[in-house]
Parts: sequence; C-alpha cells; structure tokens
Amino acid sequence: MKYHALIPAAGGGTRMGGGTPKQYLPLTGRPLIWHTLKTLTGVAAIDHVHVVLAPEDEFWGGYDWSDFKGRLTVWHCGGATRAESVIHGLRALQSLVAGDDWVLVHDAARCCLTVEHVGKLLAEVGDDPVGGLLAVPVADTLKRAQTDGRVAGTVAREGLWQAQTPQMFRYRMLLEALERMPEVTDEAGAIEAMGLHPKLVAADMTNLKVTWPLDLQLAEWILANRRQ
Ligand code: C5P
Repeated sequence: MKYHALIPAAGGGTRMGGGTPKQYLPLTGRPLIWHTLKTLTGVAAIDHVHVVLAPEDEFWGGYDWSDFKGRLTVWHCGGATRAESVIHGLRALQSLVAGDDWVLVHDAARCCLTVEHVGKLLAEVGDDPVGGLLAVPVADTLKRAQTDGRVAGTVAREGLWQAQTPQMFRYRMLLEALERMPEVTDEAGAIEAMGLHPKLVAADMTNLKVTWPLDLQLAEWILANRRQ
C-alpha cells in the first residue's frame, strides 16, 4: 500500500487578475507551485508526485524543475473544473497505482503546506477505512447574505470547519465517488455523497489557498518567516 500525491494545477486563477495562472505567479523568486512541490516531494512516505496541467498550458516548460527530478510526473490532462482535472489525473494513474493505495489530492495554490501538515494527516488517517482531510474549525461568526448585500441571518458556527487540502482517499473509492458526483468542489464532498464520513484533521490557517491578490503577500510572509 503506497501514498501518491495528485496536484490539480490546471486552473486559470481568474480571481487573481492578470494573465498568468496563479500557480505560476512569482513567490520568493520561484513560481508559486514550486513551493507546493518542494513540500510534497519532500515527504518521504509519498511514493511519487503527479501534477495535472491544462492541455494548453504554456508556462510549465519555461521553468527549471530539476530540484524534483525522479519524484515528479506531469500530465497535460486538466479539465474544465477542478473535479474534472482530478478525475482525469486519477484515470491517468490507473496502471501505476493499486486500488487500495492512498491518493493525497492537494491544490497547487496551497503553497504554504508543510511536511509537518502532511505528516499529521498521514498519522491520523493512515489506518482509517474512509479517509480524511486537513481542515480548520470556523472561528468567525457567519452571516448569510441577501441579494441586496444585507444580512438575511446568522449561521451557527458550532461544528463548522473550513476544508483544506491535502484530502486523502483510497484510489478506487475516490475515482468511483468523483465519477458519480463530478460537480463537487472537493474530494471529501464526493465521498460524503456515498454516505461516508471522512475524518477531519485539524490544521491551521497558514495552509491558505492563494485566491486573491492579498493572499500572495500573506503566503510570502509565511514562507519568509518560517525560514528565519
Ligand atoms: O480555483 P481554485 O482555487 O478553487 O482551484 C484550486 C486548485 O484546482 C488550483 O490548484 C487549480 O489550479 C486547480 N484547478 C484545476 N482545474 C480546473 C480548475 C482548478 O486543476 N479546471
């Protein structure tokens, strides 16, 4: 039984503005995804790291990836949505993985992931019959908005968590779940739709997903301050 990492990196990152997909935006002198790959290729328990790019991706070839030689394979099979990119990536791996192997799906855009975050996930989920994900308990009071921008009501935050990645599930179960429910926004959602209950593993807010321009500055601060 092995662990494999699958990184969907086929998005356009339109919320960031500009023409460069966010996985290639410069972050401390490297493309953003380099930091994600540095962590995942640095986890000894992970057998191999697979990256799913858009078929028309013109950026990957412009960078030096020799730091990850032998630990990384790139697939140009991304789809129109994140779930589609993950499904295409899983199908590409079919002959390389066993049905019971674990697949850790991780957003390229979560570039501040650490080896310790991944270690905690593997330790807490490695024996689990279903699988699980990193997440953080919701700290703020939540409001549901009306269409006019006013508050319709308060949502009780008790028991609510923000889902992050990696999300780890067994290969066969994950592919089957996503094929049945391709409209989900994360892997856990597809597993839940099968009536199963993935395990929540407490992470922290430094594992942020770079989505808006300010997030890039936050990510830079996190990486710089970890190094000191
Ligand atoms: O857009 P969002 O931040 O939700 O994307 C999360 C991850 O999914 C990113 O790493 C992005 O590149 C990836 N993605 C993908 N294929 C898509 C859309 C997003 O691989 N069609």
